[in-house]
Amino acid sequence: MMKKNILITGGAGFIGCHVVKLFVEKYPDYNIINLDCLTYAGNLENLREIEASPNYFFEKVNLLDVPELEAVFAKHAITDVIHLAAESHVDRSISDPLAFVKTNVIGTVNLLNVAKAYWGDLENHLFYHISTDEVYGSLEDGGFFTETTPYDPQSPYSASKASSDHFVRAYANTYKMKTVITNCSNNYGPNQFPEKLIPLCIHNIKNNKPLPVYGKGENIRDWLYVVDHAKAIDLVFHQGKMGETYNIGGFNEWKNIDIVQLLCQKMDAKLGRESGTSEKLITYVKDRAGHDHRYAIDASKIQKELGWEPSLQFEEGIEKTIDWYLENEDWLNNVTSGNYQKYYEEHYGG
Ligand code: NAD
Ligand code: DAU
Repeated sequence: MMKKNILITGGAGFIGCHVVKLFVEKYPDYNIINLDCLTYAGNLENLREIEASPNYFFEKVNLLDVPELEAVFAKHAITDVIHLAAESHVDRSISDPLAFVKTNVIGTVNLLNVAKAYWGDLENHLFYHISTDEVYGSLEDGGFFTETTPYDPQSPYSASKASSDHFVRAYANTYKMKTVITNCSNNYGPNQFPEKLIPLCIHNIKNNKPLPVYGKGENIRDWLYVVDHAKAIDLVFHQGKMGETYNIGGFNEWKNIDIVQLLCQKMDAKLGRESGTSEKLITYVKDRAGHDHRYAIDASKIQKELGWEPSLQFEEGIEKTIDWYLENEDWLNNVTSGNYQKYYEEHYGG
């Protein structure tokens, strides 16, 4: 059997680093090539534990640079792709939509083109695209997103992800490329950039800063521990049916304000503060433009067909997450000071 040289894009980001770590450690016979251009969201410190592994390789390349992409495919004889690299933050997409078109749409099409040309015979190669539940739009207070829910993206971010999903399906249909797509709900856990709700609140509670809650805090998200997402990706990569879509989610819906209050309560206890101290930091701010009301994933297809189950309950996952941020003060300090951006020069010689 052909040895696998798997290109994982966005491996220095939040979810990507957990996928890279899982694959490098679990599959010593695979070569794992992490391609990432290290935007503000890319942090090579996330991969410190595995960076010396003989089956791990890093390539600082932008998805918009086609000759560099071609060179990476040739250099590492790439056999499969797991594509996570993206602009991922909804608020940034509202202020700069074009950056999302460039990376998420054009970057994905570049990668599809380079993979198709390099592989030639598409029979034995997989292009696995990681996507989001936001492509399905916003739910009111009933029902779930299933794999057949019509696409209805509402933000520039979700519009760009929906577009990239459509291109992946178009390449499967038109060129018979082997593809699979997963659409996952909100992830939380270690290594998430502190612009997203949960790490932002953990950071601000620790530093006695305001906790900005958009609107009334009544929007609902469906949360999944990031390592459970990485395990689902491993399962779909190895056992998913080609051409299929799988939704991934934790059946774990929370109103934003309830999450923020839970974080306050747990952190007061951990930091030895009087109960109720951190809740005083909650500050209601102007709502996000076009704020989707509710996301909720029906994950029964991946459960029934592939036997996937989330391993962690939310309370346990949140405890682990808070503990990780408190124990990894250097990581958080390096991110907030910008020092993490020096890691590449210091460890890879620029
Ligand atoms: P992230 O923002 O933490 O990481 C993205 C990574 O991609 C970074 O390391 C960044 O440097 C890299 N990158 C960005 N633009 C690039 C480019 N042009 N060329 C090369 N590399 C580039 O994102 P994340 O939260 O880990 O999300 C990863 C993927 O999962 C994304 O595709 C996202 O849409 C999807 N997703 C995220 C969530 C979530 O809750 N975070 C949920 C479902 C799906
Ligand atoms: O559903 C999957 C998506 O989840 C992913 O595709 C995205 O990449 C990821 O960023 C995430 O999008 P959200 O917009 O749901 O995540 P965020 O952490 O930005 O916000 C979660 C909720 O909290 C949302 O309703 C907005 C709200 N919020 C967010 C921030 C940053 C606040 O109330 N205050 C804040 O400061």
